[in-house]
Parts: sequence; structure tokens; C-alpha cells
Amino acid sequence: MTSYRLPLVSTGAPAPPAGRLDAAASPEEMVVAYHERTKHHFHRYAASRGAMDWATQPDPFRRYQGADLVRLPLPEPGRPLPYWQLHVLRAQPAEPLSLESISLFFRYALSVTAWKRFHETTWSLRSNPSSGNLHPTEGYAVLPAIERLGAAPAVYHYAPKEHALERRAILDTNAWSELRAPFPEGSFFVGLSSVHWREAWKYGERAFRYCQHDAGHALATLRIAAAALGWGLVLFDWISDSAIASLFGLSRGNDYGTAEREEPELLALVTTGLPSASPRVLNGVTAGSIGARWCGRANTLSPEHGDEWPVIDEVARATRRTECAPITEDFSEFPTEEELFGIPVRQGLLTAEKAILGRRSAVAMDGSTAISQEAFFRMLARLMPTRDGRSMPWDAIPWRPRVHLGLFVHRVEGVPRGLYALVRDPDKLADLKEVMRREFRWERLPSCPPGLPLYLLQEGDCRPLAATVSCGQDIAGDGAFSLGMIADYMDSLSTYGAAFYRNLFWEAGMVGQVLYLEAEETGIRSTGIGCYFDDPVHEAFGITSREWQSLYHFTVGGPVEDIRLTTLPAYNFEEPR
Ligand SMILES: Cc1cc2nc3c(=O)[nH]c(=O)nc-3n(C[C@H](O)[C@H](O)[C@H](O)COP(=O)(O)O)c2cc1C
Repeated sequence: MTSYRLPLVSTGAPAPPAGRLDAAASPEEMVVAYHERTKHHFHRYAASRGAMDWATQPDPFRRYQGADLVRLPLPEPGRPLPYWQLHVLRAQPAEPLSLESISLFFRYALSVTAWKRFHETTWSLRSNPSSGNLHPTEGYAVLPAIERLGAAPAVYHYAPKEHALERRAILDTNAWSELRAPFPEGSFFVGLSSVHWREAWKYGERAFRYCQHDAGHALATLRIAAAALGWGLVLFDWISDSAIASLFGLSRGNDYGTAEREEPELLALVTTGLPSASPRVLNGVTAGSIGARWCGRANTLSPEHGDEWPVIDEVARATRRTECAPITEDFSEFPTEEELFGIPVRQGLLTAEKAILGRRSAVAMDGSTAISQEAFFRMLARLMPTRDGRSMPWDAIPWRPRVHLGLFVHRVEGVPRGLYALVRDPDKLADLKEVMRREFRWERLPSCPPGLPLYLLQEGDCRPLAATVSCGQDIAGDGAFSLGMIADYMDSLSTYGAAFYRNLFWEAGMVGQVLYLEAEETGIRSTGIGCYFDDPVHEAFGITSREWQSLYHFTVGGPVEDIRLTTLPAYNFEEPR
């Protein structure tokens, strides 16, 4: 059996980049320059401050002072919906739109799920994970008049610490009617923004990537929360960032003053009634006017800012979407649910609520837990869109998968240790064979369901390699398996434009969120890994072309709990903590 190792110090890492991105470059060239300069190399990490300045640590909770705060009733725990049923589309009746259902939606998508304490330090965890637990992502909604929430349609900001909605603007009823007219009765809008500074404070230039990962995780938690209520959710992939900024008031400079600004990320439609084809118009918003009366001023998150990282603003600008044609792609050659899973999953361990609210990142893996091959195949099958209805959460995004998995399999019963590939778009098999190491075997496992595009590349013990390429983090070698998410990067940028750089990370974040919940369902845990050595990962799979880039890592396995920590309930509504 081969044991893979890479040298701990790779040669040829470029000198630390200095200065800014080339202002004369095209947006795509700027993206590539940003991506290259924010790679971690064995002997040089992407530029960051190095040590944390605790005095300027950003507040993870944005509030709009002066905006009405409507507390959402905390849903009674114990909803019986089984986890597996989240994945059976239209299997349950849709909840009507009400204060209670909106509360549950945000509880599952973006709320605080626990507080942790160690000695004098207390911090919160949320249903959406976040790189460094810094939570750059802010959530917004545009909702119709709802009894006990508001008598008029309004724009709201979600305040996770309070589990409340802050009413940022009251909409003119005509403007709202025009806005939602193309959509089914009971629809509403949700959106996300990022505060780059929250991640940049710790991670410097690489922070823009992490903000995008986090937005992708949150897009998945929104989709999954909608599924738990029997609702649909689709991303408006075509809408401009400036329209999103107008809709959520992010472009209102006076409401921010010197407070940290938010970068618009995405907007999605939630359908509480029967799903219909998503109309491609959003009257009013795209014209820049929603007839709103605004209130509230953003709080300042850090008393002062140390290092600023101008390349983050530059890559943000280069990847801003202007209104574009919607993506429509064909999924007819994707596998059916039967082909992917063998026998479709109709039973399981957990309720949806336990998986969603109990999700946690493992801080260490035990180095011994093995999982069954059935669980392994099921987890991977959940990462695939299906021909019939595209499967949840993949029905939220219109593009064919651009992110494939290079797997390091350590402990899966009946599955040889080694390197594997999950080719998430059947059309890309030949390209991946071409781009990866020539000697790879590309063998199917006899026990693998026929529609699951999983290939054994090379047998061997790759535990040290997995940990090494993940910035030396043992969690990548001590789990059941870990992986790099290898994106069809250059082709995506040339097909969809520079703005799609963000979408690639969103897709990677969605893959991660599915794995987080699948790990819970299997009785184990997982962890997102944003710290990895970019080019050494490519080297592990024999990728020399810059066309394909690893965008995120993940590990799944038996966790070691940190018993020094005390866990406190998410909400008792006592202030301050
Ligand atoms: C994009 C992303 C990157 C992450 N990178 C790492 C990592 O490199 N190492 C690690 O131990 N945890 C990593 N994590 C896990 C976070 O530290 C964790 O999500 C955060 O502390 C919140 O804890 P929770 O996931 O239990 O809610 C990452 C999470 C995300 C979403």
C-alpha cells in the first residue's frame, strides 16, 4: 500500500505580493490575480496581520439603531419532521406564511443555536457555520403584511442574537404589489450581505474567499429551512448587486456613516405556495425604486480598524454582478434518485430539527471512527443534483455543478483507503481524467450505486497527506474522510464572467452545508476547512493546469468533544450575556 507524503516545505512559492490589483486589468484578470495572491503556500501564508488585535475584534451582531425590533416567538422545540424528509421534495404540506412560520424559517437558517463558555469567555454558535466563527453574513427579507409582524409590507434585517426582525423600511403598498406581482401568492424575498471587515480582521486578504464560503453555507441553510416548512427557494442568479443593495438599503450611505458597510451578495425568492417557474423580472427593484420609508442606523462593529486590505474591495468590485441573462441549463443526463442512492432513503436517525440546530463543527477527530459504506455513499449522493427535480438544496441554483471532489478516504468500511474523485457533473469526467494524474485508475467500486459518479484514483494511506495539505490540521487526517473541492475555475469565469467567482464559493459552501447535516444524521461530525495549501492540493491530484482550482476543504469523522466548554441555551432573552 502506498503512503502519500508531500515535502513540508515546497519550493518555488512566489514572494509575498505587494500593492494592489492592476486597475487596468479586466475583471476576470483581477479575479485570477486575487486568487493567486491569496493562496497559502507551505512557507508563506496569504497576507494577513499575523496576530489578532483583540481591541478591534468586530462585533458579530449588526443592529440598526432606531429601527423597530419585532421579536419572533421562539418555536417550541421538538418538531417531528424526520431529517430524510427534507430531501423528499413536496412530501409535506406547505406551512402558511405567518409570524410563527417566519420565526421557524429564521430559527433554522440563521439563528443562534447555543452559547459556549470557557472560563470568562462566552461566544455564540449559529445554525450557519462561519470561518473563524466571525459571521460576516447578514440576513434580510422583504415580507408582506403579516399579522403581529407588521401591518404593511416591509424590508427587515434579521437580528440573530435577539431572534428578531428589525424593520428597516416600510414599503409603499403599490410598490410591493408591483414587486411581487410576477410571483405566486405567499412568496417573499430573502437576501444576504457580507461585512468583509469581520473576516479581514483575522484573515487579511484571503477573507473575501471566506465571506463567499459563508454566504454559500447560509444560502444552503436558507434553502434547507424553507424545505423544513414545505417551501421552495430559488436564487435570482441574474439580478444586479446594485439592485440587491437598493432593496435592502445597503447603498444608503447616511444610514452607515462611519459604520462598516455591507457588500450585497445574493437575493432569493421563497415560495410558500405551489412552486412555479421563477419569473425573471423584479419590477421596481431593478429600476432602483421600491417606494420605501427607511429607518435605523447601523452600529459600528469595531472601534477602529487596523490594517485595511484594499485588494478585498478591488476583488469585490471586480465580481459585482450587473444584471445579466439568467442561467438555464439542462439536467437531463443527471442520475435519478434511484440511480444515485440505489434504494431511496426513507428512514433515518434524526429529526430535521436535531440535525439543523444540533449541527456543530468538530474541533478534533478521534482517529478511529469508521463509517459504513452505505453512509459514505449516501452522503456523496446528497451532493448530486438529480434529473427529476434536481434534489434539495441543488434546486436553489440554476447552474450545473462546477465543483467536484478530490477525496482522501481513510476509514470507510469496505472501501479501500486512497484517493477518490466525485465527478458532480457527468459531462466533466473526461476533462477531469485529462487534468489529473495520468496514472490514476478511475475505477468504479462494485458496491457503489450505479448513478453515483465516484471513482477510485489510487489506493493508499493518505492520512498524512490530507493533514499536510490542510495547513497541517490533524482533523483532515483523523476523520473517516476529507476532501478538496476542485472547481472548473477558468471555464466558469469565461462562461459566466468574473461575478461567478462568488458563485463558485457559494456552491462549495452548499456542498459543505450538506455534508455538515449528513454527518449529524450519521451520528458523527464534520468541519469546513478554509485553511489549506492551494497548490499542494493540486499537486496531490496531479493537477498542474491553473484552469482547475481547489476552493475549499472539508473533513468528516468521529469527533472528540472539548469537555472543558460549558454549553448554554441559545435564547433566554436576558441581556446582556
Ligand atoms: C468557510 C469555513 C472555513 C472553516 N475553516 C476551518 C479550518 O480551517 N479549521 C477549523 O478547525 N475549522 C474551520 N471552520 C469551522 C469554523 O471554525 C466553525 O464553523 C465555527 O467555529 C463555528 O462553529 P460551528 O460550525 O460549530 O457553528 C471553518 C468553517 C467555515 C464555514
